[in-house]
Amino acid sequence: MSKEKILIVGGAGYIGSYVNHMLQKEGYSTLIFDDFSRGDLKAITPTPFVKGSLQDYQKLCQLFKNNSISTVMHFAAFTDVGESTRLPEKYYQNNVVGSLNLLNAMVRHGVKQLVFSSSAAVFGHPQTPFIDETHPFNPVNPYGQSKLMVERILKDYEEAYELKSCSLRYFNAAGGDPKGELKNYQRQITNLIPLVLKGLKQNNPLVKIYGDHYPTLDGTCVRDYIHLFDLATAHLLAMQHLKKNPGSCHYNLGIGKGYSVKQVLQAIEEVTKKKLKITVAPVRKGDPASLIADANKAQQELRWTPKYRQIETMIKHAWLALDYKEA
Ligand SMILES: NC(=O)c1ccc[n+]([C@@H]2O[C@H](COP(=O)([O-])OP(=O)(O)OC[C@H]3O[C@@H](n4cnc5c(N)ncnc54)[C@H](O)[C@@H]3O)[C@@H](O)[C@H]2O)c1
Repeated sequence: MSKEKILIVGGAGYIGSYVNHMLQKEGYSTLIFDDFSRGDLKAITPTPFVKGSLQDYQKLCQLFKNNSISTVMHFAAFTDVGESTRLPEKYYQNNVVGSLNLLNAMVRHGVKQLVFSSSAAVFGHPQTPFIDETHPFNPVNPYGQSKLMVERILKDYEEAYELKSCSLRYFNAAGGDPKGELKNYQRQITNLIPLVLKGLKQNNPLVKIYGDHYPTLDGTCVRDYIHLFDLATAHLLAMQHLKKNPGSCHYNLGIGKGYSVKQVLQAIEEVTKKKLKITVAPVRKGDPASLIADANKAQQELRWTPKYRQIETMIKHAWLALDYKEA
C-alpha cells in the first residue's frame, strides 16, 4: 500500500484543480478521479489520476481497493442551473446517483471522511438579508435539489455507517490562482465573471444583464463572490476539522458582502481596461434579487478568514488565469 492519499473526485474542474494545487503545495499526496466531461487534463498534470465516471461503481471500488485513501473531496457534479431545469434527469443521475455510488464505495472500503461541495442553491430564495446555516432549505431548481439530496443522504450515512462529512455551501466562486501558476481551463462557462472575460479575450464585448428592476441598489442582482484561494483554504481547514472532531458539519462560504451585476461589470471594465456593450434582457426565472452569505460559523469553528474580499482582485486573478486558447 502506498502513502495515505486524499482522493479528489472532480479534481480536473475549476475548483477541484485549484484545491489539488494547494494541497500539493502543502505537502499532501493526492489522487484525482474525473471523467473529464467538464475538466481538463492540463489542470492536473503531473498529479496521478484515474479517468472514470461516478456512474461506474466497480471502478470506484477498484480505486479504493488499490489506494489507501484517508479523505475524499467530492467536487464532481453538473453545475448549470438553467440546464438542470430543462434536463432534471441528467442532474439527478449525475449529482445524486453518482454521489451515492461514491458513498457506497467509500463505506464498502472503510473510508470514513468526506468534504462535499454543496451550494447556496440549497436555500432557494433568501428569507433574511444574510444566509446562515439555520436558514430553511427551499431549493428552486433541480441543481439545488440535487445538492440538498446529497446532504440528506450524508446525514443518514453518518448515522448508519459513521461516515463523517463536511458540506461546504459555496456562494459564487470567482477568481483564479493569485500566483498565475494554474490556469482555468473550464470548458462550459456559465458564471458571470469568466463568461464576460472569455468574451473580452475573444474581442466580444457584448454582455446581457438579466433584469435591472430588482429591489437592489442599482436594480441588478446582487451576489456574494468568494475567491478560489479562500474556497481552497476552507477545504483544508474542513478536512483538518473532520480529523479532530467527532461529527459531521456544514458551513456557508462567502465573504458576507454582495456585488451587483452592474458593479461587477464596471470592475471588469476597470481591470481589463476594455469597454463592454451592455444590454438588458428579461429576468431569468428563479433568480433571487440578492444572495449573501453569513459565514460567521466557518470563521469561528474553522478559523477561516477570507483573504481576497475585493471584486477587482478576483477579476484580476480570473483574467490572469483564463487560458486564451481554450477560451
Ligand atoms: N463554481 C461555483 O460557483 C460553485 C458554487 C457552488 C457550488 N459549486 C460546486 O462545486 C463543485 C465544483 O464546481 P466547479 O465550478 O469546479 O465545476 P467544474 O464543472 O469545473 O468541475 C466539476 C468536475 O467534475 C467532473 N465530473 C462531473 N461529473 C462527473 C462524473 N460523473 N464522474 C467523474 N467526474 C465528473 C468534471 O469533468 C469536472 O472536472 C460542483 O459540485 C459544484 O456544484 C460550484
